[in-house]
Amino acid sequence: MVNKWAPDSWRGKEVRQVPTYSDPVELAAVERSLAEVPPLVFAGEARRLKQQLGGVAEGKAFLLQGGDCAESFAEFRADNIRDTFKVMLQMAVVLTFGAGCPVVKLGRMAGQFAKPRSAPTEVQDGVELPSYRGDIVNGIEFDAAARRPDPQRLMRAYNQAAATLNLLRAFAQGGFADLHKVHQWNLQFVADSPQGKRYMELADRIDETLDFMKACGITPDDVSKLRETDFYTSHEALLLNYEQALTRVDSLSGQWYDCSAHFLWIGDRTRQLDGAHIEFLRGVQNPIGMKCGPSLDPDELVRLIEVLNPENEPGRLTLIARMGAEKVEASLPPLVRAVQRAGRKVVWACDPMHGNTIKSTTGFKTRPFDRILAEVRGFFAVHRAEGSYAGGVHFEMTGQNVTECIGGARAISEASLGDRYHTHCDPRLNADQALELAFLIAEQLKTERVARNNGRVAAAS
Ligand code: PEP
Ligand code: CO
Repeated sequence: MVNKWAPDSWRGKEVRQVPTYSDPVELAAVERSLAEVPPLVFAGEARRLKQQLGGVAEGKAFLLQGGDCAESFAEFRADNIRDTFKVMLQMAVVLTFGAGCPVVKLGRMAGQFAKPRSAPTEVQDGVELPSYRGDIVNGIEFDAAARRPDPQRLMRAYNQAAATLNLLRAFAQGGFADLHKVHQWNLQFVADSPQGKRYMELADRIDETLDFMKACGITPDDVSKLRETDFYTSHEALLLNYEQALTRVDSLSGQWYDCSAHFLWIGDRTRQLDGAHIEFLRGVQNPIGMKCGPSLDPDELVRLIEVLNPENEPGRLTLIARMGAEKVEASLPPLVRAVQRAGRKVVWACDPMHGNTIKSTTGFKTRPFDRILAEVRGFFAVHRAEGSYAGGVHFEMTGQNVTECIGGARAISEASLGDRYHTHCDPRLNADQALELAFLIAEQLKTERVARNNGRVAAAS
């Protein structure tokens, strides 16, 4: 029998990866204030996203999910938000135009603050302090005051998420995402790179197409899809007291939605069947995701799916595989087969970032770009072999010209990692590398589509 769910029923379970607050009274007061603030998203938007993800589950569209590993208070500026948004638009256009495939755009933005850590404390020069858990919990500086988990940060994170989302909505609907602006999305520092040039050629072709459509009488004035776009937000639902406070009953459907973002996912370290994170997310009606790392057992995956998506609703659950380039071809097929055998409808997405993190010889946490591409290729190959649909990618990226992942067409070397290494957590792709990734995915998708169409033609003849 399934136990009754409530927004706080997770509190009766084991909760992993939570900070220890020194003042529970102060924490409770902040949670009460958060429960009073307006929700960030409307349940109807989450339903719409779920419906679009249902299309992805059926192989009719592709999911592009990306953004920061960890948003920070220090990097909260309009140009950062704008530039990440621009790169997402560019990647989406490469896929839509390059592969003829509709794209669902989902930012790791406007709430992606809390981070799971491998150890609760960190030691430097013999001094032990709590680990940094993201700006929503504590500060990154290594001193006792900054590292103390501070409940007031929950409210600051909410306010930053609200302002970020406000700007994203303005960009998505206010004319910035108009397809006629496709040339202007290319960032200055990308303009001379091989990817930037390739992008500009594609943008020229889009312009020609738009001219042709205009001549036929199809203009942004009468077709809103040409001048605006759907852009959704997501983050890891890690800090459950924050998520609970923003969980509300939708006045239209009478159901519970976590209104801190459209889409929430469960991390690879907090997906225990009887744990608090699964308990919380099973009860909200948003579309949700779950990271699937190499330690996940196929039978356990099926049990998790039964709990998270008992109605087998397409679009409800996205499985985000993050195996690592070396493991993907061995570890992913058993999971795909188990899901197929159980007749479960899911979206399969590939996170080629989190299984490919290494320490450079110069001491930086980095990710080799060729391994990232290799995992994406491996992911597509597995789905091709298993007859399932490779439905999306999930990646960490920024619109800033950072040097955090090594390699790429404009090769970043280990020695240059220190030049512009700004991340608060994991190394991110820069705009150049993100575009290169998009072109690779477009090629893979195109091959899939041609193969599927040929299959249909062969079947029909
Ligand atoms: C993340 O997405 O930033 C993350 C921590 O991933 P994972 O749960 O897959 O390790
Ligand atoms: Co990360």
